Amino acid sequence: MRSVITHRVIAGTLVVVSLVGISTASAQIPDEFTNLQVLPKDTSKRELVSVMREFAGALGVRCNFCHVGENPNSLEGYDFASDEPKPKKTAREMMKMAGQINDTVLPAAGVDARVRCVTCHRGLKEPETLDKVLLHSIEEGGTEAAQQKYRELREEYYGMGAYNFGPRTLNTVAETIAQEKKDVDGAIALMKLNVEFNPDAAYSHLMLGQLYAETGDKDAAIASIERSLEIEPDNNWAKRMLERVKSM
Ligand code: HEC
Ligand code: HEC
Repeated sequence: MRSVITHRVIAGTLVVVSLVGISTASAQIPDEFTNLQVLPKDTSKRELVSVMREFAGALGVRCNFCHVGENPNSLEGYDFASDEPKPKKTAREMMKMAGQINDTVLPAAGVDARVRCVTCHRGLKEPETLDKVLLHSIEEGGTEAAQQKYRELREEYYGMGAYNFGPRTLNTVAETIAQEKKDVDGAIALMKLNVEFNPDAAYSHLMLGQLYAETGDKDAAIASIERSLEIEPDNNWAKRMLERVKSM
């Protein structure tokens, strides 16, 4: 592979950057830009590349998500100026939206902070919260599909900050389907999944106990409430619920 050394003067200092690996890709990016409509026309290549890397990172995508081109490693033959890809046009509107929030809305609210793409996107193209993703998957394919989806997303995204895999997410989803759809069995399945991944969540065990009690499964209800009390022995509400279930 050809190794390229770029000499660049930044703020008066001669900086020698050795771009091993990304050298060929960087060489494919033009030095002049012909279709900037939101960024300043005189944006330097260095600034532009840094903005574009931020976009890609925030959405968890590569350059070809928004630009016409095949190989995201080599960037060979890309037409960056083309506005054909829909995501590029959406991204431009998103840039304007973030600009308005930052220049107008937040200062008017007296808030000294800025939203960035990652504030909402968190590494996702579609910045939806996990409870909504799961409720959607229940609509499409029932609770089993949602369980499968949860496992897959957890496998792919755990620890990345994209989704909240803490106990509250499945508490919310289970509560929603138990109340709105009267699907207590589905709620139990989701809460079992919840305590599988969040075994120390006292409230989730308690909720599972309450759901078991609703189906008349007294033994399972007692076991779950007792597990909750092991984790949180001072919870008076759980103690009262245990008494009630025992006298069922
Ligand atoms: C989320 C969408 C998105 C991603 C991902 C993205 N870009 Fe862009 N890119 C844009 C938008 C939008 C513009 C136009 C900005 C404007 O109008 O001011 C643009 C403009 C450009 C331009 C200027 C083209 C011209 O001549 O006007 C280049 C070069 C470019 N991007 C390179 C890249 C590279 C390299 C990557 C990967 C590291 C990348 N982009 C990733 C959305 C994206
Ligand atoms: C205030 C929250 C918010 C901010 C800030 C934000 N976005 Fe978005 N973005 C969204 C939402 C919501 C959607 C719609 C997702 C869907 O369709 O479910 C979206 C969709 C998109 C899409 C379309 C994705 C697709 O699958 O086609 C692109 C591209 C995008 N945003 C780029 C950006 C870029 C680039 C920035 C930063 C300049 C940004 N967004 C900032 C909320 C935000």
